[in-house]
Amino acid sequence: MILGISGSPRPNRITDHAVKEVLANCHGDTNFISLSGKHISGCISCLGCIEDNKCVVKDDFPEIAEAMVKADAIVLGVPNYYDLPNALSHSMLERCFCFRHKSAFLLGGKPIVIISTGYSKDEENSQVLKIVEYFAKNNKMNVISKFLVEAFSQCYTCGAGLNCIDGNVVKNNGFVEQITSEILPPEFDKQPESIKKCKNAGKILQDYLNKGQL
Ligand SMILES: Cc1cc2nc3c(=O)[nH]c(=O)nc-3n(C[C@H](O)[C@H](O)[C@H](O)COP(=O)(O)O)c2cc1C
Repeated sequence: MILGISGSPRPNRITDHAVKEVLANCHGDTNFISLSGKHISGCISCLGCIEDNKCVVKDDFPEIAEAMVKADAIVLGVPNYYDLPNALSHSMLERCFCFRHKSAFLLGGKPIVIISTGYSKDEENSQVLKIVEYFAKNNKMNVISKFLVEAFSQCYTCGAGLNCIDGNVVKNNGFVEQITSEILPPEFDKQPESIKKCKNAGKILQDYLNKGQL
């Protein structure tokens, strides 16, 4: 089973679409989990997971942990908030601490595709991709592909964007009368480059799994 996880708090938005597009280009069983509405606290360093590699904190993480361990591969979408993984994704990644004790490394060897969504376009220097890759390698996972997918700046929909001198609408377009479809950042289905990256990642992941390199 290939597990897709979207770390966006907003359901059915760009991060979800990107993760699902990768899954759609894989064969066989897939499972999609949205972290939207989930309650996942950060690791509290209680060390309750030392004995059996199971997190003892009672929130929505243990169920996700089970799916992660069962999965043959993981496709993870992480929104960029302040050039960092958003808190929801970060909490989930922290809690994966439970998998590694006593050299268990329950995520070890699993291939992972890492997607970061945001308006930043500098893929090579993306701090979010670097941080999530660091997490993956720390858990002895195999990073198969990592890339950015373009997503909205909130300034385009917050209602105050036209006049806000610190916002991205004015920064990118100057003062405009209204936010027209020409200046609105594209939805996922209007981003051929992003769709291509997701399709390609699905194909690479599937080839990797077909070769049995687990
Ligand atoms: C609190 C906050 C901070 C953000 N900071 C950044 C940022 O520093 N760089 C960036 O590229 N996008 C930033 N964004 C935009 C989000 O990355 C973007 O809205 C998100 O990836 C969209 O994914 P979604 O459509 O799945 O919710 C920020 C959004 C929020 C809410």
